[in-house]
Amino acid sequence: LRFKIMRNVQKFENLLRDVMSLYATQDEKKQAAAKAALKHLPKGGILGVGTGSTVNFLIELLPELQLEAAVASSEATAQRLKKLGIEVVDMNHVGGLDAYVDGADEIDRHLHMIKGGGAALTREKIVASIARKFVCIVDDSKWVDQLAHEFPLPVEVIPMARSAVARKIVSLGGDPVYREGVVTDNGNVILDVYNLNILNALELEKTLNDIPGVVCNGIFAINKADIAVVATDNGIEERTAV
Ligand code: 5RP
Repeated sequence: LRFKIMRNVQKFENLLRDVMSLYATQDEKKQAAAKAALKHLPKGGILGVGTGSTVNFLIELLPELQLEAAVASSEATAQRLKKLGIEVVDMNHVGGLDAYVDGADEIDRHLHMIKGGGAALTREKIVASIARKFVCIVDDSKWVDQLAHEFPLPVEVIPMARSAVARKIVSLGGDPVYREGVVTDNGNVILDVYNLNILNALELEKTLNDIPGVVCNGIFAINKADIAVVATDNGIEERTAV
């Protein structure tokens, strides 16, 4: 009997491995999205570069574009770009960008996004704001019907205003949680807001921006993506807003 059980366990393990090999891992999808995004990015120009593990795959491919320079959305991204010999320029010395490329924590059919999982939301929003095109690269786990349903909404806050902002957010129906031990590149803190029912992303983005002490919130609706390059089990899909 023991032998029979062992043999069936082995069979089950083999079957599971076969099924798993049919699907790309999340990292393989992130890499595929990064590769597919290259054709949407300018050759030889100045590119705005986001932050996160998906963008890290893209950065490795950027030498192909022979960029003149890049504007980085975080210190971490700047370090990676410099390591590859790509010049990183101060945004104050740039009039505009042909494109900005970044990942997202969530993205919906309007190409509104939730960002800030990596705490770089403020600089990401600033760099994206001067780009003519926002290319979002994601694996399909990031595609959602409703924003902030699963993932909390990050809000960057001036440290002294943390409790005051948290109380305001509670009055808006959210449950803010202080992201312990995280200080942004701008010296601020992050509140992750759970249980928000985002019916109008544009309106909520503005409402949150108006709370004194809020530096930036992770809703990217005013400056949404122009194209989403989504890696799925069936390959790459390029999606525009509906
Ligand atoms: C960082 C971000 C990232 O774009 C977002 O967290 C997605 O990251 P990843 O590509 O690692 O999943 O907004 O602030």
